Amino acid sequence: MAVLDADGRIEFALLSSQIATHAPFGGVVPEVASREHLKALPVLVDQALQSAGGPPEVVAVTAGPGLVGALLVGVRFAAAFAWGRDIDLVAVDHLEGHQVSPFLDLNGGPAKKAPSPVLGLVASGGHSAWYLGGPEQSTRLCRTRDDAAGETFDKVAKVLGLPYPGGPGVDRLARLGQGVDTVFRQPRLKDGSHDFSFSGLKSAAIRELRSRGLEGLGDQKCGQEGRDLMASFEAAIVRQLLKPVPGFVKEHRPALITASGGVAANTLLRRELEAMGTTLGVEVLLPPLALTTDNAAMIARAGQLAWQRGRRDDARRMDVIGREVWHPPGMRRQLERQKAALGTSTTPPEEC
Ligand code: KG4
Ligand code: ZN
Repeated sequence: MAVLDADGRIEFALLSSQIATHAPFGGVVPEVASREHLKALPVLVDQALQSAGGPPEVVAVTAGPGLVGALLVGVRFAAAFAWGRDIDLVAVDHLEGHQVSPFLDLNGGPAKKAPSPVLGLVASGGHSAWYLGGPEQSTRLCRTRDDAAGETFDKVAKVLGLPYPGGPGVDRLARLGQGVDTVFRQPRLKDGSHDFSFSGLKSAAIRELRSRGLEGLGDQKCGQEGRDLMASFEAAIVRQLLKPVPGFVKEHRPALITASGGVAANTLLRRELEAMGTTLGVEVLLPPLALTTDNAAMIARAGQLAWQRGRRDDARRMDVIGREVWHPPGMRRQLERQKAALGTSTTPPEEC
């Protein structure tokens, strides 16, 4: 829960973390997430209202993509809150929230204005994509075809015996190791696009952990071999995420490069992207570490910007958009054929 002033200054921000609740399961359990949201929301809203000293002008709420149950709890709560007090309501795309996070200040300053265009990476537990953004909307330039970068970190970390979420643990181990470029091969997509694919890397890293007898050893017992392997694995993810940048810079001439989402907390990614920006002569702006992972301030800011552009949503009709679904090209064609045979729309939805 966060409260911002008119210039995007963070006046209040509080996170009710569910990490400890989900940790024993090694990942997020959707039903548990919804129930935890139900418990936390009234408490957080009370605290936010007390700190704000009055009702806000506008309420922003994440409407997707994400886990449907948790989204529904948030959206219904926010809609009822806004409707009951006659306050404007704005639905926010979670990814738009991540995209504005680099412009927020944790030290009490106003939010920075974004130049145009911005070349921005969003890499989290559920998404990995590069966007080219203007003030009104952004275009996706490429995305993962299968697993997200954060999910890849989490799954490999779990096999090594690191706690959930695994990205920070791999980051810490990798800092103590020496990566070798040749351990993991980069995927080659046949269509020549800039899209990512992390599932082959995930399987290869899990195979390596098992064949070297490192499975389940955790960070204390995995030794130098585990640390080196994690350094190679992390480097393979970062290399893939940053590979399209020089081409995108040449083609789109961005005024700024950003990275956001939990994976933007990664030490190597931050270092390499900064270095790339210097080489390419483009400024790089990264969110403060605490704002890389999911947070309410970024949703409030994205909602505030949309509201300032005139966006209003109807509390009685607001709906949620669930987890983004990516149909690989083969499956997309198959779905199109099925739909055509049924005489319905020929374009399968990318998101549901
Ligand atoms: O943005 P986020 O909080 O949630 C989603 O929208 O998914 O991202 C969480 C993801 C997790 O997969 C976590 O392992 C990863 O971000 N992550 C990291 C680091 N810190 C968090 N991955 C690599 N290195 C890190 N330092
Ligand atoms: Zn996120």
